[in-house]
Amino acid sequence: MPKPAELEARTGKILGGWLAPHPPHLVYGENPVQNEPRSRGGWEGLRWAYDHCRLRIKEQRPDVIIVHSPHWQTVVGHHVLAVKHLQGLSVDPIFPHLFRYRFNLEVDTELAEAIYDESRQCGLTAKRMTNPNFRVDYGTIVSLHMMNPAWDIPVVAISANNSPYFYDDDIAQDEMTRLGVATRAAIEKTGRRAVLAASNTLSHLHFSREPNPELPEDMTREHVYSQAQYEWDMRVITLMRSGKTKELMAILPEFMRETFAEVKAGSLTWMLSAMGFPEIPAKFYGYGSVIGTGNAVMEWDLSQQAPGGAP
Ligand SMILES: [Fe+2]
Repeated sequence: MPKPAELEARTGKILGGWLAPHPPHLVYGENPVQNEPRSRGGWEGLRWAYDHCRLRIKEQRPDVIIVHSPHWQTVVGHHVLAVKHLQGLSVDPIFPHLFRYRFNLEVDTELAEAIYDESRQCGLTAKRMTNPNFRVDYGTIVSLHMMNPAWDIPVVAISANNSPYFYDDDIAQDEMTRLGVATRAAIEKTGRRAVLAASNTLSHLHFSREPNPELPEDMTREHVYSQAQYEWDMRVITLMRSGKTKELMAILPEFMRETFAEVKAGSLTWMLSAMGFPEIPAKFYGYGSVIGTGNAVMEWDLSQQAPGGAP
């Protein structure tokens, strides 16, 4: 029989979760060496909000960052990145002039395998992504770069299975809830100290043309898409800041319908489910529009909870 201390050492824990939006403009504005296009900056309110995340990750030193991205779309099942090392060039299909990023990342494959196993045990269709030449999507890369530009912590990426919501938003969110439960079980069984990232924009109606093609970072042309969309974002953020997670989950379907919110892809539901839908205030670090979409950087800090304890 293992001693209690050994059990404690083996029990994994979710340290926290982040709403980590992924407009490629944020990486473009940063001018990291990995990204080919150069900019004069822009979107600083959002980019600098990520400084809080970078600091927390340096303090916490998690074993792994797990991200769920709407731009790794899979039609059949939930896929998990399960290749130890991946590198290549990721290009945003909509904004190739802003995002051509050379990625080089390490995957926590043991945890990835565990998420795959647990997902199947939860009755989900799941698949391990084992193609060594796989091109990682820009949603995954932007969120991970903005959270930890040093890329010195292994990652796991999970796809957005987008077939369920062709039929019904409730079915999709139920699947994402089960995916969250599976992710948490895998973290606990593998003994990982994990940080989660929901790679989601909030409201997602946006300009149909780039406001200034000559200077994409022209901040005189950046603004929220509509007052109605802005008010929806503030309503949702207020619920998050108040820890009213039940109310938040109840209005998500309407939020998705009214603002075409990117949370429809399930990343936020997955993350909140993994954390046990915590009724704690999320910390707000910044909000900004990118080609009119609404984006917020926010943290649910679970680091003070006991390992394996109920949130
Ligand atoms: Fe997106």
